[in-house]
Amino acid sequence: MKLRYALTLIPMAFAVMLAVLQPGETAAQGSVCEGGFGEQSVVGSGAAEDPKAPVFQYIGVDKCKLCHIKKSTGAPYSQWKKTKHAKAFETLATPEAKAIAEKLKIADPQKSDQCLRCHVTGFGAKPEEIAPSLKQSEGVGCEVCHGPGSEYHKEDVHAKSREAGLKAGMIIPDEKTCLKCHNKDSPSYKEFDFAKFSKEIAHPNPEKQKK
Ligand code: HEC
Ligand code: HEC
Ligand code: HEC
Ligand code: HEC
Repeated sequence: MKLRYALTLIPMAFAVMLAVLQPGETAAQGSVCEGGFGEQSVVGSGAAEDPKAPVFQYIGVDKCKLCHIKKSTGAPYSQWKKTKHAKAFETLATPEAKAIAEKLKIADPQKSDQCLRCHVTGFGAKPEEIAPSLKQSEGVGCEVCHGPGSEYHKEDVHAKSREAGLKAGMIIPDEKTCLKCHNKDSPSYKEFDFAKFSKEIAHPNPEKQKK
């Protein structure tokens, strides 16, 4: 399924790149997704088009879980697992989702870009930015908010210094990150209140709070 939607993106991204990209322009500026889906990019590494630039891949929550499940650091993985984000893909198979989809003449929400774009990790990324370990079923995973992890998770790059992490693709999310999906394009839109919604998904590290 993942392969299927990745494949549909190749010709689309290519056509748009030819049409939009000027020499020296980056994919982020060229807005591959804007041309393809008529909407803002939902998630993207923002990696430059420069062939020498490192490609940051989405590797999936299981890779983050390896370290981020310790209670002493707030167990972000366990916190995330309890949120609706972890169920965002499953949700697309519910009767409620099917009812929404029917009105929009969508046969299967779990296969429609119109729904997947806010309900999975790495949507809109180029095929080479998706690692085989990423599973669509994880829903809205860590990397949706923290950036594709293939480089910064290695040998604890991001754990040694925030600066090193940021250079390797890590993102410290803010309200803008949320608004990519929590907006009126959502068929079931609920008024987004950053302070209130942040509390529901919070996973602070108690060790850092003490300092
Ligand atoms: C090899 C172990 C390891 C892996 C794998 C790992 N992390 Fe971390 N990460 C750490 C440690 C250690 C810290 C610092 C202590 C803490 O905040 O838990 C950290 C800190 C962070 C921070 C806070 C950075 C800051 O500057 O405040 C974020 C965000 C983060 N990790 C996200 C992720 C994501 C997302 C993944 C998966 C793509 C991941 N990590 C994979 C060990 C790891
Ligand atoms: C919906 C967005 C979202 C998702 C999904 C998400 N996070 Fe976060 N994460 C945040 C926000 C917001 C912060 C706080 C950033 C700040 O310090 O301003 C944060 C902070 C962190 C921190 C630093 C905590 C601290 O107090 O230093 C770590 C570590 C972290 N996240 C790891 C993860 C891991 C691992 C996952 C997946 C299991 C994950 N996050 C999923 C939004 C998210
Ligand atoms: C990739 C798109 C995406 C991003 C980015 C995103 N979310 Fe979400 N969020 C969703 C989806 C989809 C759901 C509904 C999942 C479900 O019900 O299965 C959701 C649900 C939620 C809910 C539960 C709402 C309810 O109905 O009870 C909260 C709280 C939330 N998100 C907070 C945040 C915050 C805070 C951020 C930013 C730090 C954020 N989200 C970023 C897609 C996203
Ligand atoms: C612009 C991003 C976006 C798109 C596109 C999107 N969703 Fe969602 N979806 C969300 C968010 C965010 C939530 C959490 C509730 C909200 O909108 O605040 C959500 C929640 C849901 C829920 C749970 C309802 C609830 O009350 O919590 C269902 C079911 C759902 N979406 C189905 C769909 C279907 C089916 C499609 C495709 C036709 C779709 N979504 C497209 C962002 C999106």
